[in-house]
Amino acid sequence: MAAYDYETHDYDVVVIGAGGSGLRATLGMAEQGLRTACVTKVFPTRSHTVAAQGGIAASLGNMGPDNWQWHMYDTVKGSDWLGDTDAMEYLAREAPKAVYELEHYGVPFSRTEEGKIYQRPFGGHTTEFGDGPAVQRTCAAADRTGHAILHTLYGQSLKERAEFYIEYFAIDLLMSDDGQCRGVLAWKLDDGTMHVFNAKMTVLATGGYGRAYFSATSAHTCTGDGGGMVARAGLPLQDMEFVQFHPTGIYGSGCLITEGARGEGGYLTNAEGERFMERYAPQYKDLAPRDYVSRSMTMEIREGRGVGEHKDHIHLNLNHLPAEALAERLPGISESARIFAGVDVTREPIPVLPTVHYNMGGIPTNYWGEALNPTKDDPTAVVPGLMAVGEAGCASVHGANRLGSNSLIDLVVFGRAAAIRAGKVVDAESAVPAAPEAAIDAAFARFDSYRNAKGGTPTAELRLEMQRTMQADAAVFRATDTLKDGVTRMTDIAAKLDDLHVTDRSLIWNTDLMETLELTNLMPNALATITGAEARHESRGAHAHEDHPDRDDKAWRVHTVARVDGNKVDLTYRPVITDTLTTEDEGGIAKQKIAPKARTF
Ligand code: FUM
Repeated sequence: MAAYDYETHDYDVVVIGAGGSGLRATLGMAEQGLRTACVTKVFPTRSHTVAAQGGIAASLGNMGPDNWQWHMYDTVKGSDWLGDTDAMEYLAREAPKAVYELEHYGVPFSRTEEGKIYQRPFGGHTTEFGDGPAVQRTCAAADRTGHAILHTLYGQSLKERAEFYIEYFAIDLLMSDDGQCRGVLAWKLDDGTMHVFNAKMTVLATGGYGRAYFSATSAHTCTGDGGGMVARAGLPLQDMEFVQFHPTGIYGSGCLITEGARGEGGYLTNAEGERFMERYAPQYKDLAPRDYVSRSMTMEIREGRGVGEHKDHIHLNLNHLPAEALAERLPGISESARIFAGVDVTREPIPVLPTVHYNMGGIPTNYWGEALNPTKDDPTAVVPGLMAVGEAGCASVHGANRLGSNSLIDLVVFGRAAAIRAGKVVDAESAVPAAPEAAIDAAFARFDSYRNAKGGTPTAELRLEMQRTMQADAAVFRATDTLKDGVTRMTDIAAKLDDLHVTDRSLIWNTDLMETLELTNLMPNALATITGAEARHESRGAHAHEDHPDRDDKAWRVHTVARVDGNKVDLTYRPVITDTLTTEDEGGIAKQKIAPKARTF
């Protein structure tokens, strides 16, 4: 019998999270007449998507020749051949449709002279299957694209009568004994009431776990809540060792300066004033993909060519660009540079440093967003009643490294795909099954144990220990010794979750308890990341291993599947999907075009 009273809600679909993917899924579900609830710990328009700046990739061809096959090729190469081919094809093919839908929903995109959606260049987006010049593929609303998308999708979801449960914290998934997801238990933060959401389909759209690191562009709310819930449900996480460092976080604060700044003509320099990217990536220079640029910057700093008193960062130059262009195309980052770096971008360079930005790994899904529980016999086995989309999920479309602006398009393409799939598999006429009492009791028991935690370790102290360890030992460059030490340290840190001390025992706006629950979500994500990294003896995409500097397709072109139980991680591997959805005769890309080869820029 549950120790807490609770209210019960029945829905066809419950979406957890109201960022870009959560809202796109919510909207798509509601449009089809599915009774849909969106449960979110922050007000929808405060979700982290609001911080997305530079734009959303789609081969509209508004600024010059482009097509989805080139976009797909760039995504495959960007992923360093770890992405699943079906998902990458689906993303590139559906992207133009998804962007035009956004336009029709009302997203206020910037415009060309002829009134078309404005597109800018972003790293790794090219023409002619990587042989031609950079392409302008990233559709932008100045440098506030995420903000524009989020507000539009929220308005549209309300119009379709989706129901929002705002400032509700999802505690745990409610699973049946035979492995089906039946909904979620949530805590209403402002009045302390408890809520069981019974649902035929639960969609995790909870975002990434950037806050497992000390310095991240992610909001403080990015605590991997979906990954934490999935791990506790005995389900796996995938490819967690691939963590993207964005080249241009503001030195000190970590605040994002969009890649669009380089897309609009900005460039990086070292202490000698040299445009060093010309040496590392002669063809695409500052517009090489992020893993490449972040490593190049780190090498410059290591070799003593960093700028500043401590020679520990790099300069991003925009001051050669016309002031009117900066005001029109990059107003947001001009303001951020002034506030967070004290820099007037029309006159001085911005001090920047590679900063944790995105998690390529997450909850494994197929390209419809259905969560997977891979077994040896069935590497694509679906978890009934559970989906994951956006940064929480791993379709896997980004593989070992995501291209800039492929994140926003991932949110809307796969949020939309999840809705299309739910329209097929959810029976809107049937009764909503009740979540098992035992699952509700277990979720309350866990909640109550942290609410009354009387150990010796304050939450903030343990969180900082985790963040410092991840920052030091699972960084841009990794090595055998530091990864080994990091795994040992993180295993000890995770064990200390049993010794937490929570001071506030109330249920109303108890941020002490909420941050504790968030830490219990961050921890399995962090542990899977460093353990997966230690085990992967090659370099691929964002995983740059100094003792294994080459990519090894024979041994390691596989997805890591990590199951976390307490402070233990069990690793297995599943094959990368290499089949396309369409053949060359059907207009698709030829398989030999996307066969693995050396990745140079
Ligand atoms: O640089 C940026 O504007 C970030 C975009 C992204 O992560 O896709």
